[in-house]
Amino acid sequence: MAETPPINYGIALVGSGSATPKQRLTNDQLGLRVDTSDSWISSRTGIHSRRVIGSGETLTGLSVRAAQGATTFARWDPESIDLVILATSTPDDLFGSAPQIQAELGAKNAVAFDLTAACSGFLFALVTASQFLRNGSMRRAIVIGADQLTRWVNWDDRRSCVLFGDGAGAIALEATDINHDGVIAFSLKSDGSRGDCLNLPNVQNFQPLVEGLVHQTGGFLPIQMNGQEVYKFAVREVPSILEDLLSGSNVAPETLDWLLLHQANQRILDAVADRFSIPKTKVLSNLANYGNTSAATIPLMLDEAVQDGRIKRGDLIATSGFGAGLSWGAALLRWQGPI
Ligand code: COA
Repeated sequence: MAETPPINYGIALVGSGSATPKQRLTNDQLGLRVDTSDSWISSRTGIHSRRVIGSGETLTGLSVRAAQGATTFARWDPESIDLVILATSTPDDLFGSAPQIQAELGAKNAVAFDLTAACSGFLFALVTASQFLRNGSMRRAIVIGADQLTRWVNWDDRRSCVLFGDGAGAIALEATDINHDGVIAFSLKSDGSRGDCLNLPNVQNFQPLVEGLVHQTGGFLPIQMNGQEVYKFAVREVPSILEDLLSGSNVAPETLDWLLLHQANQRILDAVADRFSIPKTKVLSNLANYGNTSAATIPLMLDEAVQDGRIKRGDLIATSGFGAGLSWGAALLRWQGPI
């Protein structure tokens, strides 16, 4: 008996959206809090300011706005959405914030859940969502990357507090003909043995429960980071995973339209671009205005470049996310826009 061929759909990137907090914190303002300066921060990171969630705003609220933007862009009825994934390490609710976003979006037929992989989270969520679409079990997905790391930064630690900001970005994915596939290739990696160079650990605080037993109280320490180790990890692993991805897909670096990396540090972006001789004009960067927004950086940058017309229908994008875990990944994407 002949085997039934596997169902194999293409995945189109059909919409994008983003939202950032109102409060803007400049390097000069940070210098009033810790012993730092605009020239130190700009020259070492490329960051000039970042956004910080203030009163009246929530991460869930930003995520809803980003998801609404992507849904409207794709010209979708929210009720036609099958899946909502929120990539975040900083949900408003530790049980998961995606269902709240699903409800506020009016995506009442969608299943919604959170996914955590720190700064690689958006890429991991994009690949996860694409599996449901690829095999035909779902047709439309919203993938959000959103983080509020300013909640967990030690604002008196100048080695880390200058790097981070808050934001949210989202994309809309639609199952399509395999010949119009926009998720061309991907690779995802983890190495927990090196996790201690960047983490946000549970605080070890035990209290008496009943006679002879203790319980742990909830709470986390601020972000712990060995900046030099993280820097070395990024400039070693990102070029390596991109090189494997491009050669495995028979794509020459010069045929890429855009390099879209996790926006951690301009020096990391430059080092990766140099490695592939990709000109600066093809390297997307907005970290000067937002800093490192963790899971949000890639969709926030994508949406900005789509909205201002830099990214056009059919453009080929190499993207890579990296960060705590340690985790990292890369994907080769083709932007489609509304079908
Ligand atoms: N302002 C002024 N001086 C600072 C400073 C700041 N914000 N932060 C650190 N310094 C000082 C240090 O105290 C040190 O001084 P010392 O030599 O007198 O002790 C000096 O600058 C050099 O510190 P160092 O940590 O070696 O700096 P660096 O060149 O490695 O740059 C980072 C620091 C954080 C910018 C850099 O390591 C980096 O970008 N790492 C990657 C971090 C990252 O991207 N994390 C998220 C990944 S998802």
